[in-house]
Amino acid sequence: MSSAYQECIDPKCRLRYDIRDFRLTCSKGHPLDVKYSSRPNIELGIFSMRRNHGSNIYNESGVWRFRNFINFCSIDTENYEECARYLVSLDGAEGRLSKPFKMSKVAEYVGVHKDNLFLQPEGYNPSGSFKDNGMATALTHAKLLNVKKIVCASTGNTSASAAMYASNEGMGCEVYVPRGEIAIGKLGQALQFGAQVIEVDGNFDDALAMMLREASSNAYVVNSVNPFRLEGQKTIVYRILEYLDWESPDWLVYPGGALGNTSSAGKCLMELYEWGFIKKIPRLAVINAEGADTLYKLYNGIFNGVRLRWKDGSVDLSLIDEYYRYMDKNNIKPRTDATAIQIGKPANLLKGLRALEFTDGVVEVVSDKEMYDGMAIVGLNGFDCELASGAVPAGIKKLREQEIIKKDDVVVGILTGRQKDPNIVINYHLNPANRFAVTPKRYSKVTVK
Ligand code: F0G
Repeated sequence: MSSAYQECIDPKCRLRYDIRDFRLTCSKGHPLDVKYSSRPNIELGIFSMRRNHGSNIYNESGVWRFRNFINFCSIDTENYEECARYLVSLDGAEGRLSKPFKMSKVAEYVGVHKDNLFLQPEGYNPSGSFKDNGMATALTHAKLLNVKKIVCASTGNTSASAAMYASNEGMGCEVYVPRGEIAIGKLGQALQFGAQVIEVDGNFDDALAMMLREASSNAYVVNSVNPFRLEGQKTIVYRILEYLDWESPDWLVYPGGALGNTSSAGKCLMELYEWGFIKKIPRLAVINAEGADTLYKLYNGIFNGVRLRWKDGSVDLSLIDEYYRYMDKNNIKPRTDATAIQIGKPANLLKGLRALEFTDGVVEVVSDKEMYDGMAIVGLNGFDCELASGAVPAGIKKLREQEIIKKDDVVVGILTGRQKDPNIVINYHLNPANRFAVTPKRYSKVTVK
């Protein structure tokens, strides 16, 4: 039936599997891609025409509007009945409100020309983060396989999104979260949407390892190691390119955690370039938080002086092993206030390296303080984002200061999630020493005359 298949990303292996197989790696343990046997036969104009959706939720959806590029169900994408039978959507809401916005105050702060800086708030998705893009496609695959229960490990946003989509589809949902290390609003969402929460003593890396160990063999994993999740996250880039009339920007900037977004953006650009839909490849900039900066250290040769690279699939795996052993032996745990990206062992490291090689990417690191200021200036521009997303303006500023990003470069940053922990904002503004703090005024006594 299908012209799509799964394939191992290792050029020396390239094992293939049917689209209906559910597995997170090939039989040799390498990550998998979803692949399409032919170039989508479409004109780019169709996507913006669909925006005038005429009550078709698959046209309204910012994910399924681009269904020709993610058509792993191999359906007739113009046939509404077929779309309705296969595609999972929260009434067209995923990706619907996300597009690049100009933000003049942020532009001034980071030092990029105000007409050339765009930020795309993915927090305006139904569950409040970019995860909904990928959850729509992962659950579409789960539905194809007649799955009854999905599972994930999460720093909070994946679990919120998984719980929301699962409840809407009538599937069960189990989420493994690091106890006390996720934003309260995210925990509340998982409970609100009826997921079974499993609190793990440890960090996200421990929760992921436990989930992969404990989850029953028939449970469907929706973490970003699932290649069908990454297919949906490609639409973040389609929406950017569509807004820019399919002229590539100079830079795409993401916060880096498990590197699902980085991997997905890389795959998206590889396909669009190979299929001839774009002529220029934007450069990826991935921003780590200090204290959760495995990629930054390995990519820039800060550990052991060797720069970790994809090298067309010949990655120095021993360097990664050595770094993880060093972390374990010295009890080095990822630590940042931006709990969303408090991750020490990025599960998509190999795909992330592939993306960085294809795009001539860079990896930068920012402190918690820099992320707080980044988050605050986005807020003063009238947009919402969480602390991890504050890494994006902070990273752009740092790359501008080094002249890696030039003042006139066209830069698009992804604000990955909205604020789900008001205390983070309140505490920032209560401290007048913070750069953008607008400290509340207090009156100790109100006298009525
Ligand atoms: N920003 C936010 C708001 C996130 O929630 C995450 C990841 C990232 C950035 C990092 O993205 O993993 O693709 O590099 N959150 C995951 C979760 C880990 O469980 O919600 P990445």
